Amino acid sequence: MIRVVGPAHAPALAAVHAEAFAPAEAWDAASLAAQLRLPGGYGLLAEAGGMALAQAAAEQSDLLTIAVIPAARRAGLGAALLRAAMQEAARRGAAAMFLEVAETNTPARALYAAAGFVPVGRRRDYYTDGGDALVLRAGLIPCGSAGG
Ligand SMILES: CC(C)(COP(=O)(O)OP(=O)(O)OC[C@H]1O[C@@H](n2cnc3c(N)ncnc32)[C@H](O)[C@@H]1OP(=O)(O)O)[C@@H](O)C(=O)NCCC(=O)NCCS
Repeated sequence: MIRVVGPAHAPALAAVHAEAFAPAEAWDAASLAAQLRLPGGYGLLAEAGGMALAQAAAEQSDLLTIAVIPAARRAGLGAALLRAAMQEAARRGAAAMFLEVAETNTPARALYAAAGFVPVGRRRDYYTDGGDALVLRAGLIPCGSAGG
């Protein structure tokens, strides 16, 4: 089950994030809670071991992070979390979702491509290791329309 959650669930979101990312990349509960308190911020928490963090403001939304614990990967949870994040953004009135992904992150890029994200830009030397980030965008199906 995937739930939309707020700052009160920051510790649970952080526990999943810490298991999915290398220690230097993990976001702690305090920083997750701070992002969830920003206007339009929301989290997704999957009992099976997944989380996502997104922000929807006016027409635009951003996926800030998504993570599935190693033991739960390749079972469709990442795709389900991404769908839930996109649906919630559409429900909040966003027409598109943007995200940044490391050019070298093959699993994440495949996940995003399968969900309809396409590259719209590049941020050079975005990561501390000097790697580039790709900026991806997907249009969202307006809430309340057929099939939405
Ligand atoms: C990226 C991540 C969230 C995917 O989660 P997941 O639950 O394994 O994803 P799913 O099982 O829903 O996979 C959906 C699709 O994504 C692609 N995909 C996922 N993992 C993949 C891998 N290791 N190699 C290639 N494609 C992959 C496939 O197209 C897959 O569909 P398929 O299983 O039918 O082939 C997970 O690998 C993760 O947490 N990685 C570390 C954190 C991270 O990099 N987050 C993204 C930061 S931008």
